[in-house]
Amino acid sequence: MFSSVQEVSDGLRSAGYIADPVAITTIFLAGSLHRPILSEGPAGSGKTQLAYAVAQAANTSVERLQCYEGIGEDKAIGTFDESLQRLCVELKAKASGVDWELLKNELHGEQFFSAGPLLRALQYERPCVLLIDELDKVDHAFEAMLLELLSVWQLSIPKLGTIQAKSIPFVVLTSNEERRIGDPLRRRSFYLRVEHPTAEREAEIVAMRTPDAVADFHAGMAGLAKALRGWSLEKPPSVSEILDLAQALRILGAEKVTAEMRDTLLPLLAKTEADRRKLLLRDGFASLVYDAQQYAAQSLEGSAV
Ligand SMILES: Nc1ncnc2c1ncn2[C@@H]1O[C@H](COP(=O)(O)OP(=O)(O)OP(=O)(O)O)[C@@H](O)[C@H]1O
Ligand SMILES: [Mg+2]
Repeated sequence: MFSSVQEVSDGLRSAGYIADPVAITTIFLAGSLHRPILSEGPAGSGKTQLAYAVAQAANTSVERLQCYEGIGEDKAIGTFDESLQRLCVELKAKASGVDWELLKNELHGEQFFSAGPLLRALQYERPCVLLIDELDKVDHAFEAMLLELLSVWQLSIPKLGTIQAKSIPFVVLTSNEERRIGDPLRRRSFYLRVEHPTAEREAEIVAMRTPDAVADFHAGMAGLAKALRGWSLEKPPSVSEILDLAQALRILGAEKVTAEMRDTLLPLLAKTEADRRKLLLRDGFASLVYDAQQYAAQSLEGSAV
């Protein structure tokens, strides 16, 4: 999929995704060895976006299976199109001398099968990216079904037969850890732990989204993120929420967060009642802003040396 680590690094960056060196090497190795990436970490930390960025870097498409409780193989792999089958039978029945055995075989062919994302992902001439998003929502039986796909790159479909992959997709599995993904899948995957980024990396991510703002602004947003995450909030802000905040400040024409902006910014920063109360405590927000400025200054100093 990629010919070098550098190609992954450049490709992700031009797709607007900032990954750390370990993640970049893991992606390169996963592509070379045909191993799925199992990406776990907090909400909004870039797990899903990683799949889109890899696809953009490799100049290919994404097939996405959005998992949910009770998802069945028909949604994931596909199902026979019964109305098309019925239509075919009706048309053939009008003609004389129908070979019913032949017709039965024809009705169970690929042309009557409406493929879901798992099957579609095997049918690309050039590898695509297969994103199996929020795998922790499915049950054990569904997870077991995935093993065949991810080990031998084929799908056994009742009545249709076994379909072999034309090309092996780059697979990204994501999980928010609501249910523990089983060991057989873990064993077959490379595990990418996605955590909140360092202040320097977060400043880079903010810079990607607000390129017209100055470096102080980007460092300020990253500093605020770090300060908020040090506050033992019930729901610490994710990268995506910091990006929302940065864009909101640009819209409001603000250069930085100040203590006076507390009430305006609270809906963007505190997402539970307990967190809202915490940030409303006397001097709470002002000390947060102070901490944020210290972190921002440190990271600016670090990048200057
Ligand atoms: N490393 C990064 N580089 C660039 N953008 C990032 C990065 N990490 C997160 N983002 C941005 O944060 C947003 C949220 O990312 P994403 O939806 O992938 O999170 P997630 O981990 O899948 O969250 P959830 O668990 O809620 O599904 C996206 O808009 C994405 O562009
Ligand atoms: Mg996601």
